[in-house]
Order: sequence, then C-alpha cells, then structure tokens
Amino acid sequence: MHVAIIMDGNGRWATQRGLPRSSGHIEGAKAVRTAVEAAARADVKTLTLYAFSSANWSRPAAESAALMHLFGQYLFTETRRCVEQSIRINVIGRRDRLSENLLRSIEQSERSSAAGSGMLLRIAVDYSSQHSIVEAARRAGRDAESAGTELTGTEFQRLLLEVDHCTHPASEVDLLIRTGNERRLSDFLLWESAFAELHFSECLWPDFDEQRLHCALEDYDRRQRRFGGLGANTL
Ligand code: IPE
Ligand code: IPE
Ligand code: MG
Repeated sequence: MHVAIIMDGNGRWATQRGLPRSSGHIEGAKAVRTAVEAAARADVKTLTLYAFSSANWSRPAAESAALMHLFGQYLFTETRRCVEQSIRINVIGRRDRLSENLLRSIEQSERSSAAGSGMLLRIAVDYSSQHSIVEAARRAGRDAESAGTELTGTEFQRLLLEVDHCTHPASEVDLLIRTGNERRLSDFLLWESAFAELHFSECLWPDFDEQRLHCALEDYDRRQRRFGGLGANTL
C-alpha cells in the first residue's frame, strides 16, 4: 500500500499558540518521525511525504531557509533510525536548486539506507508535479526524435521516475492524506494519484499522531475502489 501525505498546518499550529511559524515547523518535523514509524508498523509499503513544494519558494527567504535547514537536520538525525528499521529513504523532486551540503546529505541518506527491505520512505522536496510532468514530456520528445519511436505509457512513467530522482519504482498512490483542514492537492503527485482515495483531516500537522494515521487507514479500508469498473458487490 502506498500512502502519501500533504503535511499542512504547521504555521497555523504556531500562530494559535502565539509562536513564530518556525516553531510550527520544528514541531512538524517531530510529527514526521511519529508518522514514519507508525506507517512502517502499520505495514505501509511506501510512504511519500510532501515536505517542501516548488511553490513554497515564494515564502519569505528566511522561512524557506529554515525549512531546508530542518530537512537537513531531519536527514542527519533520522537516517540511522531508518536504517535500524530497514526503511529506505528516497528524496524526490528537483535537485538543481538545493545547496551542495543538502545534496550531499541526501545522497548519503539514500546510499546508507538503500539495502533496507522494509518501507520505502519518499520525501518530496522542491517538488512540483506539473514541473515533473512537463520535464518528462520534454525528455520524451527528445527521445522520440532520436529513436523515432512512439511514446508508451510505461516509457513515460520511466521518464517521470527519472525526472523525480526516484531510486525505486513506487506503485500508484492508494491513500492521499492532507492535514490542516484544506481540500486541495497543491501540485502533489497529480499523475500518481489518478485513482487515489482522499482523506482530509482538520488536524494541524504537528498534532498528527499514530491514532490519526490509523483513523485514515480505517477510513481507507471502508472505501470501495472501483477503478472505473463496477466493483465487487455489483450483481
Ligand atoms: C506545512 O505547513 C509545511 C509546509 C508547507 C512546508 P504550512 O507552513 O503550510 O502551515 P500553514 O498552512 O501556514 O498553517
Ligand atoms: C502544501 O502546503 C505543501 C506542503 C505541505 C509541503 P501549502 O501550505 O504550501 O499549500 P497551499 O499554499 O495551501 O496550496
Ligand atoms: Mg499550508
């Protein structure tokens, strides 16, 4: 099962407490550890977390920098915990706008966790689905020109994985969770979520815990997925 989460509401969590937004992001990072470990325990095969969207660069520079710093810290402290739990780490998204230091940390985390046989943890940073799709289409056009062959869906998916720096192929999203009381996708996994079940939670991300993950998984279990067909219960 592939679960994807749009971790939203850090800023509001902090504002409600009269704290700076950065405190919300710090608490949010703690909730990431909880969610990752709870998902692995719940036998989720792939967990994709939206940590920083390409659109988030439009925030004040200090906030973007603080988020990048927190992400680097997360990799530094959590990689070993992930390795101990056989969790493989893969950072997806653009890499051309990240700092050299961060790129090194990402490569190190991916390399040291690569042999894990457990959950695949994908963290989306400087991620934009629209950008990925356009870039994959551009590469498809380039390949078609040189090879003279027609593009297949499988080939397009391979290009999408390449554009996003996916080290492991991931199945399509089964359950997409968004916290923070917003009901939108914000340019996250648009292609991969074609048939995803959606679960929107009012909970602000720093308050997300194992119980809330179970609640989303139970909600998912009650859904009947039909993929355009008639479903199992139809006479
Ligand atoms: C989610 O929380 C974290 C990121 C987008 C990086 P927000 O920072 O969007 O929090 P709100 O939506 O302003 O409360
Ligand atoms: C989506 O949240 C991005 C992440 C959670 C990383 P945003 O807070 O940036 O999205 P919008 O602005 O509500 O669409
Ligand atoms: Mg938000």
